[in-house]
Amino acid sequence: MKKLTSETLRQLYLQFFKSKGHAVIPSASLIPENDPTVLFTTAGMHPLVPYLLGEKHPAGNRLCDVQKCVRTGDIDEVGDSSHCTFFEMLGNWSLGDYFKEKMIPWSFEFLTSPEYLGIPVKDIAVTCFAGDKDCPKDEESAKLWRECGILPENIYFLPKSGNWWGPAGTTGPCGPDTEMHVIRNHAEADKLGEYDFEKAPAGTFLEIWNDVFMQYNKTAEGSYEPLRQKNVDTGMGLERTLCILNGKSSVYETDIFEKAIQSIEKLTGRKYGESEEITRAFRVVLDHVRTATFMLGDVKGIAPSNTDQGYILRRIIRRAVRFGRNIGLPQGSLSKISATIIDKYAEVYPELVKNSGRVYEELEKEENKFSKTLQQGIREFDKVVSALPAGGVIDGVTAFHLYDTYGFPVEITGEMAREKGMTVDAKGYEAAYAEHQAKSRAGSEQKFACGLADHKELTTNLHTATHLLHAALKKVCSPDIEQRGSNITEERLRFDFNFARKLTPEEVAEVERLINEQISLDIPVVMREMTLEQAKAEGFTGLFESKYGEKVKTYSIGEFSKEICGGPHAEKTGLLGKFKIAKQENVSAGVKRIKAILTK
Ligand code: SER
Repeated sequence: MKKLTSETLRQLYLQFFKSKGHAVIPSASLIPENDPTVLFTTAGMHPLVPYLLGEKHPAGNRLCDVQKCVRTGDIDEVGDSSHCTFFEMLGNWSLGDYFKEKMIPWSFEFLTSPEYLGIPVKDIAVTCFAGDKDCPKDEESAKLWRECGILPENIYFLPKSGNWWGPAGTTGPCGPDTEMHVIRNHAEADKLGEYDFEKAPAGTFLEIWNDVFMQYNKTAEGSYEPLRQKNVDTGMGLERTLCILNGKSSVYETDIFEKAIQSIEKLTGRKYGESEEITRAFRVVLDHVRTATFMLGDVKGIAPSNTDQGYILRRIIRRAVRFGRNIGLPQGSLSKISATIIDKYAEVYPELVKNSGRVYEELEKEENKFSKTLQQGIREFDKVVSALPAGGVIDGVTAFHLYDTYGFPVEITGEMAREKGMTVDAKGYEAAYAEHQAKSRAGSEQKFACGLADHKELTTNLHTATHLLHAALKKVCSPDIEQRGSNITEERLRFDFNFARKLTPEEVAEVERLINEQISLDIPVVMREMTLEQAKAEGFTGLFESKYGEKVKTYSIGEFSKEICGGPHAEKTGLLGKFKIAKQENVSAGVKRIKAILTK
């Protein structure tokens, strides 16, 4: 097995798939585009859903990349050896091109060839789909693995719970997968029959790679319809693979965090590994500062706020501050740790360098804000719990008071309560919050799916309306207006843009008039592919300049709107109905939000 650094592993992976005819595409933003159901990009395939469903990708039908991902479902587990809220996924895709017959031999070659990972064949186990009423047993993959040289006793079969991937939400592309594992304990592995994989004690196998054979679309009714095109979607977690190759037991001990650990040691005078408690605090700070750095430094950089992505970011920064206190991290440290992280990723994610000013500024602002109330809040919390019996429940109104007055996100209060063997009345909190805010952020974290697959027409029309809105705002308010965020549900579009003030009633009316005029003219929406340079020269706008690499898709609506965009869009503006601005909101100083609807 080769010992590799993160830089070399990324490079080797992309180089391998380039040599197999794949276009290397840059990582998409961490903020999903036009996906109403999820807050962050959660897997390499996520930004590619429209293409897995049949849209044409401008870079071709063989793609590979390293994708930035965020998953915050297990945030309270961060601090142990394996959980991270941010990770990178190495992935390659066939969009209706090759299938198992090529992917399995390539996987074998990449894993075992001395030029690449050099893992001994006898140390590799694979699992394949065992078959059920929706899809037959995957004998074909098992046969291909045997032909490559995987030992027959190291091939296992698992049901849907183990060897099926997707859809990312409740509907969308999915299929059986085959997973590759490194055998860490041969004595235990040798005892297992071909259906016994899950009976192995923890640590017997370490999963390294997942090849998904996406051949179904799961519908809202729960049935599996064959996809028009059969795809391959593979994912290899960069951090986890580094651990395995370098024989480390935790991602925090890989080269990725080396400099950041040194920085925390210098700032606190403590040593990583000094005790379990200290190590846990180091890890929380490391993970959370890295995640916050990537969120703030993203092309669609978000800022801490009280809703959606901004709320998750706020929660992550505040949790880092709280754990930082436990190891004596002085106020103002987060931006210093962040600087070592930006340095480490500078070449792979240049947007971090470009946006570093914003990253440090926002980190400092949020850290200062929370630091002001943290001590007092802890005192208040202690007072509350000391008045409760063992195993008591902190009521919702009190939890809301801790949030509203001392800035404790309810999840942090919940975690502190658990440390004392208590809980928080989450329902009561939501009720108190809803009462106070009239609108609650409840459920925002449950958003997890790929919305473009759903109710496609409604969301497609709203996507086209978003382009019209963007163009109209430029014309009516300022040519400098740029998109700062976009989110679409079946009911409405939401568009964030840089502008200092709310629109006047006259401006609102003019924007609506211009858009409805374009709709009544029933203008065709024209897609053309071209190089990024050509698109720029022709006056197309687009924030996501590096997203598709060489060739980009452009959408124009007459001369009114010209944007670089992945699509999909309505064929003609006449399909849209009537456009109306429903609401204006303030996102932050300098960023405004419009919610708009389409009616019949
Ligand atoms: N979508 C699969 C995963 O996330 C493979 O890329 O594991």
